[in-house]
This record gives sequence, C-alpha cells and structure tokens, in this order.
Amino acid sequence: MKLFIDDANVDDIKRLFGLYPIDGVTTNPSILSKTGRNPVDVLKEIREIIGADSLLFAQALPLDAEGMIKDARAIVKLLGSNTIIKVPSVPEGFKAIRILKEEGIHTCGTVVYTPMQAYLAAKAGADYVAPYVNRIDNMGYDGIGIVKQIQDILTIHRMDTKVLAASFKNSQQVLELCAYGIGGSTCAPDVIEALVKNLAIDGAIDAFIHDFAKVAGEDKSMADLIG
Ligand code: G3P
Repeated sequence: MKLFIDDANVDDIKRLFGLYPIDGVTTNPSILSKTGRNPVDVLKEIREIIGADSLLFAQALPLDAEGMIKDARAIVKLLGSNTIIKVPSVPEGFKAIRILKEEGIHTCGTVVYTPMQAYLAAKAGADYVAPYVNRIDNMGYDGIGIVKQIQDILTIHRMDTKVLAASFKNSQQVLELCAYGIGGSTCAPDVIEALVKNLAIDGAIDAFIHDFAKVAGEDKSMADLIG
C-alpha cells in the first residue's frame, strides 16, 4: 500500500517525508487554501521537497471537461510527469479522464462517495480513485465498507486502477484497509503520526536505553564503545 501525506504544510511535509516511507503528497483546493499562500508557489515547493520521482496530486478546478484538461496540462507542465491530476468523479470528469489518459497524463478520480462513481472513473481510465472514508461515515454510511466494495469491483473486473483511500480519522481505519490490500492511503499528518503511537513501544525503547546505560554509561552508543 502506498502512503501519502494529505496536506500542504511544507514544514510538516519536510519532517514526515524525512522520517516515514512516504510515496508522495496529495492536495486538494481546500488543503492548499489552508496554507494561506499562493497555491502554485506551495505546489512548487512541495515538488522540490519530495523530488521529481515521488507522486504529487493536484486537483483540476474547472467544472467542465475542457477546463479540467487545460488545468491538467498546465499542472503537469509545471510540476512534472509524476504529478497525478485529481478530477472529480462526475460526468464531465469522466470525459476529462478519458482524454487525459490518451495524452498520457495520469489522473485520480476524486470526490468518491459511491462505488459506481469509482467504477466509472476507473472505466474511463483513472490511475487512482479516491473514496472519502470519514466523510462517508459522517453521512451515516460505512466508509470502510464502501472502500472495500470498490476494491472488490476493481479486482473482479481486473482493472489496473488503484484505490487511494482518503479522509481518514484514525490509524485503525488505515490498518483495516492496509490489511484488505488497497493500493494507497492518504492521511493528514496527525493520522500518520498515530500509525505507530503506542506507550508499549516507547516503554520497550526506554528500557533498552536504561539497561545499556548500566554497563556502558549514560548516553553511550555502540559506536562510542567500539571507538
Ligand atoms: O482530499 C480529500 C480528502 O482527503 C478529504 O479529507 O479530512 O477533508 O475529509 P477530509
């Protein structure tokens, strides 16, 4: 499962990208807006931080296919070929996805609340489809269950499109979908940091440090002892 940071705060991206095995960064217009900065400047800075080989997701804004395609071409020209264009999974979006695929531009069918939206975006040629787990839960439906159903549909129909689950509230949701074998999850920084937040882990590491210090001295490492 690929793991993405769903955020545009460059300090958080720098820190998390340095620590975790992260495959890229996903953004949307609301996430970019939270920075209070020019969205193009932010996207360029994120691209510099993560490098040309990592995946960067940016959304096309217009509501019509022609406008989406124009945005997609401009974004890829600016940020490179490893940039995935997020396109809402609605009829104009399906049209844009189909044409962008013919041009070799990668897309993600986004704003997915139902399995049929995901199926049609995949059938149009999207590389990824992005269902919103927590937002679906908040509507009174089963977000995790819908993501699993989407994964089943893609598998049964032998489609290459990958599920990129988004809108997570906690690390347990990510684990459940990881165990189900979905293609990717994109998480806000606090959810990524909750993936391995556990007092038992901290306690075990503290005990190792404390025990070693008894025979080696405070703050000594193996390299210090070996010399
Ligand atoms: O990019 C879409 C998705 O990640 C939204 O997440 O937390 O705003 O529901 P959230």
